[in-house]
Amino acid sequence: MFITIDGLDGSGKSSLVSALCRALRVAGYDPIQTREPGGSAGAEVIRNLLVTGEPDRWSPEVELLLFNAARRDHVERLIKPALAAGQLVICDRYVDSTRAYQGLKNDSLLQLANQLHDSAIGLDPDLTLILDVDPSVAHARSTESKGNELRFEGRGLAFQEGLREAFLQIAKEQPHRCRVVDASQEREDLLTEAFGLVRGVLESHQDDCHAVLSEG
Ligand code: TYD
Repeated sequence: MFITIDGLDGSGKSSLVSALCRALRVAGYDPIQTREPGGSAGAEVIRNLLVTGEPDRWSPEVELLLFNAARRDHVERLIKPALAAGQLVICDRYVDSTRAYQGLKNDSLLQLANQLHDSAIGLDPDLTLILDVDPSVAHARSTESKGNELRFEGRGLAFQEGLREAFLQIAKEQPHRCRVVDASQEREDLLTEAFGLVRGVLESHQDDCHAVLSEG
């Protein structure tokens, strides 16, 4: 089972991913927690190329290709082998970040992002939680210190507002896998809601497996 969590910088995504994995462990599951860009040795090298340096270090097209190169390595080396072994993978950001962030530049980049996903990645999550939050709140949180990973910082509030619309649009277009979650609620409530959604998908998957086994 492959679950991704996505949303604006500063939406509380990364702390939710960690809390969710801890809660799942307590409940007896054994999730693999990973993130993008990165998550495998090769993808972490590419991450470094993406998140450091000057904002115009890469053209938008090269940046899109680098995100996909990192994702392909992550999928090949970590995600697919884990899924094949029946493990639960929880990933902090995935293709919806590429659609939202890189696709926001213009329609042809969004189209290219979708084409690259279909042709070079070809793996969709079973469930995606889109954390929705007021862009001004997220923006204030995300400008807190990020070490030397500053290449994507400094994009203004208008950009964050565009991103929020892009994420909500993806959720609308792909309702079979996306759930929008209000990230402004209390941390505990957010965790409870996210945990409930994840457990719902895990249990329905188990029911499907039992049905197949009992038919055989
Ligand atoms: P990340 O480390 O997840 O940052 P944060 O902790 O703020 O969520 O990601 C670094 C940046 O990379 C972030 O600004 C979002 C951006 N990004 C893209 O632009 N496209 C992508 O496909 C991904 C995965 C991330």
